[in-house]
Amino acid sequence: MSSEFSIRVNGLSKNFPVYSKPHHRLFQMFSPTSAKSRWFREFRALTGVDFEIHRGETVAIVGRNGSGKSTLLQIICGTLAPSTGSVEVNGRIAALLELGAGFNPEFTGRENVYLNGTVLGLTRAEIDARFDEIVAFADIGEFIEQPVRSYSSGMYVRLAFAVAIHVMPDILVVDEALSVGDEAFQRKCFARIEKIRDAGATVLFVSHAPSTVLELCNRAILLDRGELLAVGTPKRVISRYQKMLYAPSNMVASIRARMQQEMAASRHDGGMEGVAGKPELAHVLEVENSQQLEQIEDTAEDSYFDPGLISQSMLRFETHGAVIEDPHIQTPAGLRVNVLKPGGEFFYTYTVRFDRAAVAVTFGMLIKTISGVELGGATSATPVDAIDVVESGAAVHVKFKFRCLLAPGTYFLNAGVRGRVDNEETFLDRIIDAALFRVPPDSGRLATGFVDFHVRPDVEMVDNEPELSHEFK
Ligand SMILES: Nc1ncnc2c1ncn2[C@@H]1O[C@H](COP(=O)(O)OP(=O)(O)OP(=O)(O)O)[C@@H](O)[C@H]1O
Ligand SMILES: [Mg+2]
Repeated sequence: MSSEFSIRVNGLSKNFPVYSKPHHRLFQMFSPTSAKSRWFREFRALTGVDFEIHRGETVAIVGRNGSGKSTLLQIICGTLAPSTGSVEVNGRIAALLELGAGFNPEFTGRENVYLNGTVLGLTRAEIDARFDEIVAFADIGEFIEQPVRSYSSGMYVRLAFAVAIHVMPDILVVDEALSVGDEAFQRKCFARIEKIRDAGATVLFVSHAPSTVLELCNRAILLDRGELLAVGTPKRVISRYQKMLYAPSNMVASIRARMQQEMAASRHDGGMEGVAGKPELAHVLEVENSQQLEQIEDTAEDSYFDPGLISQSMLRFETHGAVIEDPHIQTPAGLRVNVLKPGGEFFYTYTVRFDRAAVAVTFGMLIKTISGVELGGATSATPVDAIDVVESGAAVHVKFKFRCLLAPGTYFLNAGVRGRVDNEETFLDRIIDAALFRVPPDSGRLATGFVDFHVRPDVEMVDNEPELSHEFK
């Protein structure tokens, strides 16, 4: 990585005209430029965005839907003009933006490879030399001789990505296009992106998958409602993104305000470069719910929600008068998470709705490994202390507080509710593999095995003198 910049974005803003009625667009076209009234209102998709990406960096842009990610990439690639501000790009850019951009649908795949390759700056001889490799990477078989309009969106992306990576760009820009391909192809693309990155190119891409951002990038950028809310290490930015996504709605505004303050302070201190290592600016902002906010900061910093982590082996037994709903893990501040910071405290929680009365009701949970080894769990009460009667129509929120003392890996959770109906003690509802969570790698871990028993090693050197050899005795 060098200090030379690849992409520099200065005070970028983008307004789109929004017409409340379609014909207003026409009225506007024919109204004199001097006219005072306008037929549209302006929607601001980007506001004062500044950042710099150095040569050799791999940077992800994250943010909620509609936050301006695609707009920003289009401006960087020159397919959209900014309203104010500027972008400087240093090097040859290859971009994979929206589907449909870059290829002529009437031309065959082969013709489009040449067309697209030329647009990206290759000579015919250079494309000839790479053609077979491009086709092999795209792996679309006979379709290479068919017009692109007959392609599925997956085939389209395969070919477009194959061309983009074979032009040996200095800068590779990828919007979410890759999510169209199947998982095997996505894996192949990300392996290729890693190769491009390792060869010294700059990579800028949009992603909604925290694991991809954490694995691939050295920095990340968080956009929200067109504003830059965080720039820094992937871990830091992802944790902020998760905070925005899963915060209780009454706290979003204060969390946003805090991030804005952090950004402003980091700019004030000489720009974004120092952001990653900066201490939290806890004192900067007095927010109404500051105590609650601190809790979120503490517990969510290293824990987050990975939407790709879904139980595919969930098994529900026949229900007997009660239904377990929404089993999930959350932080003490109520944020939904499934990647758990080792050592952190969490709640495994679910709701049980009763559609008939039950007596002597208890609730249970169990944590297991992937191979099914039962590591530990608990019931809410002994049968003696069980809830005497739960009426039909009632709902019970169940929360099990636990500390994550597990080795890095993936774990599964069961949920169950027991009680007596028709004088028979039974499971009223029971779900196997109701939820799952991951404990990320922890390089400082000394504990071995699945469970950390808080063993504290104490090693004392007693006698380290080398034994004197026999001649000197
Ligand atoms: N041509 C346009 N005219 C009007 N509004 C637009 C136009 N293009 C984008 N917008 C608006 O700008 C905002 C940002 O859009 P953009 O596509 O950049 O978001 P995004 O972060 O890429 O979202 P997603 O995650 O859904 O892809 C959105 O509110 C969108 O409706
Ligand atoms: Mg987009």
